[in-house]
This record gives sequence, structure tokens and C-alpha cells, in this order.
Amino acid sequence: MQFGKLSALAAVFLAACASSRAQSPKYNLGRTPTDEEIRAWDISVGPEGKELPPGSGNAVAGAKIYAEKCALCHGPTATEGKFLHGVLVGGKESLTTLEPMKTIGSYWPYATTIFDFVRRAMPFNNPGSLTADEVYSLTAFLLYRNDIIEEPTVIDAMTLPKVRMPNRDGFFPANPVWKPGYYQPYFSPQLEPRKKKQ
Ligand code: HEC
Repeated sequence: MQFGKLSALAAVFLAACASSRAQSPKYNLGRTPTDEEIRAWDISVGPEGKELPPGSGNAVAGAKIYAEKCALCHGPTATEGKFLHGVLVGGKESLTTLEPMKTIGSYWPYATTIFDFVRRAMPFNNPGSLTADEVYSLTAFLLYRNDIIEEPTVIDAMTLPKVRMPNRDGFFPANPVWKPGYYQPYFSPQLEPRKKKQ
């Protein structure tokens, strides 16, 4: 088929789509979310922690909240977690051994993810119920118990993104910037020049 005919057909098809959209019936389902509803959902915190809310906490306060709201499932010392409930403390330097133990302390690359996850998903039986101060305190407690910060360290929007996690460099970038003539071999964080065929 010639290009002219093909593009004419495409134009007819697109016009048909546009008109069928214009005529689609109104189902009266759903409504535009309110600003407050959007704010309640818009709680993702990235690695740089730019979205962290005001508030602060430390490990001492976190230990009390942990005992009340988390120990039930994660165990009194946070090392007891079972298959489902996740071990929250331990696994230090185990990733390169024959029995790697992935915990937030040994495995997670960014401290800000602990805040994000606990705020959105924990406690499992009542997610979204913790205040920002409580989440900062619990994050501080978990970082302290994993030997990543000192007990009195205050954790807030300024200090949390600066906490360097032990496995920070253990992940390959998902998308290394590609350059023409290069490729990324399996299990390699770096691009390598493509070999020319003989
Ligand atoms: C009712 C049981 C329950 C309670 C209470 C609970 N958790 Fe959890 N927690 C879970 C389960 C189940 C998972 C695994 C969830 C998943 O993988 O989606 C989990 C996972 C986690 C993880 C991720 C672990 C990992 O390595 O992936 C963290 C961090 C965590 N919980 C923190 C907390 C904190 C802090 C509290 C207290 C505020 C808490 N949890 C209370 C059941 C619970």
C-alpha cells in the first residue's frame, strides 16, 4: 500500500476513534477527588527524602511505640520475625555469605524507604494510623537497632536522607545511561563497548 493511502486510512481511523469518544455515554461513575483526598494518597518519599513531612523522633521514643504497636507481630526484639512478618533487625554483613539475610538494615539501600513503608503500610492491622513523629521515632529505632545510627540521633526530614545504608552501593542502576556502541552485560553495573563482528 502506498504511504498516501495508508495515512489517509489512519486519518479515518483516528477520526472514528475521536468521534466515538465524543459520543461515549456518561456513566455517572466516580467523581473528581478532593485536594484533601489527593494529599492523603500523595505520601511517597523518594531516596532524597524531599517529600518528608515536618516532625522528628529518636530511638528511645521509637522503642516504646515499637513495644506497643509492632512487637505483636515482629517480636519483642525485632529479630524474631517469621516468614510473613519480616525480620526487622539483623543480617548485618550477611548478604555476601552463603546464608544471606535480607532485612531493612542489611538490604534496603535508602533509609527514607523505611519511613515511607512504615507510614503507608504499618502496623499491618491499622496502616496509616501513625503520626509523622511516631514514624520518625520508629525509623530511628529500627536504624539504631541495626547499628546504623547512635541511640540519641534525632531523625527528621534533614537527617534521615543523610543516613547512609550499608547496602547503598549493592544495587545496579536500573537504567544506566546508554551510549551508542555500548551494551550492558548481565550482572554488570557498567556498560561495555560492543565487540565488532570479525
Ligand atoms: C499485624 C501484624 C503486624 C504488625 C502489628 C506490624 N507489622 Fe510490620 N509487617 C507485617 C507483615 C505481614 C509484613 C510483611 C508485609 C509485606 O511483605 O507486604 C511486615 C513488614 C514490615 C516491614 C518490612 C520488612 C521487610 O524487610 O520487608 C517493616 C519495616 C515493618 N513491617 C515495620 C513495622 C512497624 C514499625 C510496626 C509497628 C508500627 C509494624 N511493622 C507492625 C505485620 C505486622
